[in-house]
Amino acid sequence: MFPVRIEPFSAADLPAVAAIEAETPGAWSAAQLAAELERTGGWQYVARHEDGSVVGYLCGYTVADEAEILKLAVTVSCRRQGVAAQLLEYALAGLAAQGVSRVFLELRAGNQPARKLYEKIGFGHSGMRKGYYRNPLEDALLMAKPLSGGESLEEHP
Ligand SMILES: CC(C)(COP(=O)(O)OP(=O)(O)OC[C@H]1O[C@@H](n2cnc3c(N)ncnc32)[C@H](O)[C@@H]1OP(=O)(O)O)[C@@H](O)C(=O)NCCC(=O)NCCS
Repeated sequence: MFPVRIEPFSAADLPAVAAIEAETPGAWSAAQLAAELERTGGWQYVARHEDGSVVGYLCGYTVADEAEILKLAVTVSCRRQGVAAQLLEYALAGLAAQGVSRVFLELRAGNQPARKLYEKIGFGHSGMRKGYYRNPLEDALLMAKPLSGGESLEEHP
């Protein structure tokens, strides 16, 4: 496990987060990331190594009692060490405490690392959008997780 502190994502973190984004397909620009910090109902976190460097980030938004995860990324050199799982668990605990009952997200159907991650955290498949992504063309897999009701991972194939 890579030890990180989960903290609010501030404007000062934009260059580091933009660099992590740049390593991912469909990367958002620094301007898009900056706009995200202003989103109504938005929430954004960074995972910070003990040396202060940002190694991952997560953002999403809440409307009424539902939330959507918009972006999640971990810097390549720190992947597969539990950083994304720590970001998700932190955010989901906060959303549950605020009374959010369901969290949604969509991802490229072929994004196996993300798909496995979300399944492990308890997201189930809730639908598909054919040809949703461009460059390259790819279907979107829709996933959802209820935040109350005591669901278990086994209930999500
Ligand atoms: C998807 C992503 C965020 C995962 O981050 P990460 O910090 O490496 O993930 P974690 O170490 O917390 O992994 C937790 C679990 O997810 C699954 N997982 C993560 N990466 C995986 C991979 N490459 N292959 C298979 N399963 C994987 C595993 O079940 C893993 O648990 P385990 O290591 O005990 O087997 C990262 O690969 C990334 O930034 N990808 C590019 C951006 C992206 O695709 N974002 C998601 C779409 S919004």
